[in-house]
Amino acid sequence: MVFIELGLVSLLLGYIFYRWATLKYNIFKERGIPYEKPYPLVGNSGAVVLNKECFNKTLLKFYKRNRDHDIVGFYNFRSPTFVVQNPEYIKKITVKDFDYFVNHTPFFTADDDPLINGMLTVMKDQRWKNMRNTLSPIFTAAKMRAMFTLMNECFNESLERLHEKTKGGKSHDIELKGWFTRLSNDIIASTAFGLKVNSYVDPNNEFYSIGQSVSNFRGTQMIKFFISTTMPIIQKLLGYKVFDKDKTDYFKRLVIDTMKYRQEHKIHRPDMIQLMIEAKQESDQNWSDDDIVAQCFIFFFAAFENNANFTSVICHELMENPDVQQRLYEEAMEVRAELNGNPLTYEAVMKMKYMDMVTSEALRKWSLAGMLDRLCSKDYDLTDNDGNLIFKFKAGDYIWFPIVGMHNDERYFEDPDLFNPERFSDVNKDSIKPFTYLPFGVGPRMCIGNRYALMQAKAMLYYMILDFKFERSPNTVENIMDDGRGFQVNPIGGFWVRLVPRN
Ligand code: HEM
Repeated sequence: MVFIELGLVSLLLGYIFYRWATLKYNIFKERGIPYEKPYPLVGNSGAVVLNKECFNKTLLKFYKRNRDHDIVGFYNFRSPTFVVQNPEYIKKITVKDFDYFVNHTPFFTADDDPLINGMLTVMKDQRWKNMRNTLSPIFTAAKMRAMFTLMNECFNESLERLHEKTKGGKSHDIELKGWFTRLSNDIIASTAFGLKVNSYVDPNNEFYSIGQSVSNFRGTQMIKFFISTTMPIIQKLLGYKVFDKDKTDYFKRLVIDTMKYRQEHKIHRPDMIQLMIEAKQESDQNWSDDDIVAQCFIFFFAAFENNANFTSVICHELMENPDVQQRLYEEAMEVRAELNGNPLTYEAVMKMKYMDMVTSEALRKWSLAGMLDRLCSKDYDLTDNDGNLIFKFKAGDYIWFPIVGMHNDERYFEDPDLFNPERFSDVNKDSIKPFTYLPFGVGPRMCIGNRYALMQAKAMLYYMILDFKFERSPNTVENIMDDGRGFQVNPIGGFWVRLVPRN
């Protein structure tokens, strides 16, 4: 008898769970939007959750199957998300009618941590606008120029290590992602927080381990993230945070103590902490310490992983395309000759034309952010250019723009699998259809750190290519996309290349 009762209760609970897991799965049908059949709880993202493929691959495959629709429904786990694929409509939502779509979709709501909720990416409406205005002066070309000297020191240390490994002209196989992550870590530690860290000499430094723990979205971290996104109530019951509390507490202490020390001892250094102190003083907003720490956290979070992935994909493409590599080498040689023995400057690297074409093409082919998201905050009628109604968005709707899909769509980029920097030459770049190339996002909410990211990647490449040739290593993976897992462009086999010293 007890067994029957237990069986019935289990059945009932299973049914309730199923109903809850599929509660919103009729939305697209009701609102007349095409969609693909979702699976309970995981929606259309099952392969990512099961670690079978990376998020970008899931998005790209979905886009290829559905690209003829202007708007298509994607179940991001349990959340119905309207994927807007027509570049004209993307323009309307992100620029023209931005006021209806100021915010991103919610992020780790159960964490209830000012460090997370206070990040610029998560901030909303007027508060976001005020913070964005406060932070914008930090990322001007003039400020980047001052920070460039600090970056240069980190490059030199990293290069010295590579020279040691290739002493006597011997080639060296290297996993670039690990290498660049350490470099990114040391650079952000120095340019943001004024900390001298050498992650090559001290690979277990606390700063690096924070970066690892907050940017790793595989294994247990993926499960924590999945529960947090789909069942925040369970996260609350289990009482865990997506980011380890001891790591985030260390980070908070670090920023607050550094700011206090700088102010008390009147220390000036051309880094982000300094600029944050100044921005806080000059703003009429009375930002709290927590507000400032949260911005440092998102800068660290964004720079740590993104910059390492960015430089890794470029080097991978240079290895695959020796002609591109040779042309970039020749441009770097010209710049070196012009510098006449002086160290690289911000101006010199930023005016390298071919370098710009190569980095732009890498961002196209390997869109580091697979999609952009927006939250509709007021009911909005999307119309075409003739005023015909296309779709009625409702307040609370989640919206995505499929960057990885558009970047790899032959209607916008001919032969998209080909790594072809010529697409971004002076002659060709104006023919790129507007709103189809969005590696750093678009509109008032676009990436605030794009200058910083480009400066770092270009400078690192300049130094590397002058000293080394990139060749295939026996460990090089065949296909980055197929080998990728998690939310980033991140092959499980790593980014292996063989470095061959040039002289
Ligand atoms: C190659 C490297 C990077 C890529 C591809 C990238 C890409 C992006 C994208 C796609 C967005 C969303 C934009 C939108 O919704 O329209 C974004 C936002 C943002 N990024 Fe980056 N990013 C990179 C590096 C960085 C760096 C180095 C920093 C900081 C130093 C940074 C800080 C931010 C911040 C704070 C936002 C939020 C802006 C806001 O909400 O107002 N990013 N980034």
